[in-house]
Amino acid sequence: MGFLDIANRNHLALGLEQSGSTVVSYADVQLVTGVSNGYDVAKLEYRIAAMNWRDQFRKPQGFLGSIAGWIMANRPSNRARNRWTINLLQLKPTDHVLEIGCGPGVALYQAGLQTPKGQVTGLDHSDIMVKQAQRRNPGTTIIKGDLASIKGQLFDKIFSINVIQFVPDFSLFYRQIAQLLRKDGIVVTTYQPRHQHAKRQNAIDTGQKIASVMENIGFASITQLELALQPIPAITVIGCKSP
Ligand SMILES: C[S@@+](CC[C@H](N)C(=O)[O-])C[C@H]1O[C@@H](n2cnc3c(N)ncnc32)[C@H](O)[C@@H]1O
Repeated sequence: MGFLDIANRNHLALGLEQSGSTVVSYADVQLVTGVSNGYDVAKLEYRIAAMNWRDQFRKPQGFLGSIAGWIMANRPSNRARNRWTINLLQLKPTDHVLEIGCGPGVALYQAGLQTPKGQVTGLDHSDIMVKQAQRRNPGTTIIKGDLASIKGQLFDKIFSINVIQFVPDFSLFYRQIAQLLRKDGIVVTTYQPRHQHAKRQNAIDTGQKIASVMENIGFASITQLELALQPIPAITVIGCKSP
C-alpha cells in the first residue's frame, strides 16, 4: 500500500483510460483535504491499495468506480458498441426491454428513446452504476442486483454489453434469460475484449462459446456478427427464444 498525491482528477482519468482494463495496482481511493504549496486549496491525497483495475469494470465501487462509469459512458468504443447493439435489437415502440449490467445507463437511454409506449429496465449489481444510470434515466426502473433479482416480469428483448466476460456460468446465465423472455423474445449479447493483450480471436472464441451454450438451451435463429472497432473488434450473438 502506498500514497499518491493527485491534484488533477482529469489526469487520473486519462491515465486509467490509457491502461484500459489491464492490471493497474490502484484502488480504494481515500480523499483527504488539506493545504498544498502554501495555497488555500484542497490537497487531494489518495491512498492506493494494490488491486486489479479490472474489478472496477466488473463491479464499480467508490471513487475509482465512478471514474470507471465515466469511461464507460464516454469512451468512443463503448459508445459505438452501444449504438450497434441497440440497432440490432430492432426495437418496437411497445417493447419491454431489459439491459443486464447497464453500467452508467447510456444504452438504456437510447433504448428508452425507441420504446415510448413500452418499458426499459436496467439491472446492475453496483450501487454506483445504479446511481449513475438513474441520473441519466430519471423515471426508468433500475434494479440493483443480478438476474435472480428479477421476478414476475417478462421481456421482449434482453441485452448485455461487455458483461459476459464476468459471468462464471454461461449456461445458467442463458437459462435465466430464457425464463425472463416472452415467446419469440430476442437476446443480444455484445462483447469487446478489453483486457491486456486482447486479440480478435478472444472475441470470436467467446462468441462461439455463447452460441454453443444458447443452442444447447434451445434458442433458435442464432446469429454471430462482428463490429470493426479499435483496438479490438466486438462480437455480437443474437438468438430467439423458441416457441
Ligand atoms: C464493463 S461494464 C459495461 C457497462 C455497459 N454495459 C457498457 O458497455 O458500457 C460491466 C457492467 O456490468 C455490471 N455487472 C457485471 N456482472 C453483473 C451481474 N452478474 N449482474 C449485474 N450486473 C453486472 C457491472 O457492475 C458493470 O456496471
